[in-house]
Amino acid sequence: MTELATTPLHASTSRQTFADDVLYYLSLQPRQLPSRYFYDALGSALFEAICRLPWYRITRSETRLLATHSRRIFSRLDPLSTLVELGPGNGEKLATLIGSDTLRPPRLDVHLVDVSPTALASSSRVTGALDGVVVTTHQASYEAGLTEAASQTRESGRTLVLFLGSNIGNFDPPGADAFLRGIRSALVKGDAFLIGADLVKNERELVLAYDDPLGVTDAFNHNLLVRINRELDGDFDLDAFAHRALWNAEKSRVEMHLVSQRSQRVRVAAARLAFTIGEGESIWTESSYKYQPAALVTMLERAGFRLVEQWIDGEAGFALTLAIAT
Ligand code: AVI
Repeated sequence: MTELATTPLHASTSRQTFADDVLYYLSLQPRQLPSRYFYDALGSALFEAICRLPWYRITRSETRLLATHSRRIFSRLDPLSTLVELGPGNGEKLATLIGSDTLRPPRLDVHLVDVSPTALASSSRVTGALDGVVVTTHQASYEAGLTEAASQTRESGRTLVLFLGSNIGNFDPPGADAFLRGIRSALVKGDAFLIGADLVKNERELVLAYDDPLGVTDAFNHNLLVRINRELDGDFDLDAFAHRALWNAEKSRVEMHLVSQRSQRVRVAAARLAFTIGEGESIWTESSYKYQPAALVTMLERAGFRLVEQWIDGEAGFALTLAIAT
């Protein structure tokens, strides 16, 4: 089985690339769509709403861990001069980390990397308002933005890269390894990496986080079809696909699917695609890998980092892991 493409969050693409991807991934067996296409303006707003749902605890748990352990993080990394956040969202988590600590250096260079200009505008507004913080934005892929930011760091002081929100979970295991190795290669020995990752927990909780009773995640998933219909002249019948979230224990991931409710013909004009999808056949739209705390450490070690400290929210099942480049 060909696995779902590993794609960073918020990657922006041209209409032609979108059409090419839709043709390629919908022609695979099982049919797929890359999860990066969730994040148009509506999809990003729905994702922000998901982060506020009582059943999706990642954002709240991570924010609490950042607030509680910020002192410890800064004291372990002294002297620190630069922070780079890959995918800063609205900037609130970074502001929590920086703002809640009295031990942090009086001057911090902050680099925010995202392909979305909207995310960069809001995150730079939030972090730029903090005392002693000098913000530089990089509208680029994570890899390109990090390389650019790393070339602008000061001589003295370490760099800390943040990759939060369990975004690592949207990479398949080889993709995650390659991504972490890429981060390590942009850093020098002694620089640091802080990663937030969701942990394996009971199945009911995991599925509820991706199939919430308010139907927000259902709308987030269906919005992919809305996008294809609007941007690529598709004719997906939205009501004829059902949102499905399932826990794949063997692969340690929650999968999201859109399951065809009847045998039907679908056309996507701009992708020059027409196909019949059978009743019960699904389009696999996302994988969210969940981790054991020790597996995160091993993954970081494989990429050239050494564990400094790991903080776990046992109640929500979430880990914040701090590591140093060796
Ligand atoms: C962005 N990413 C870490 C989220 C996740 O949990 O995989 C996206 C998401 N999909 C459904 N709900 C949230």
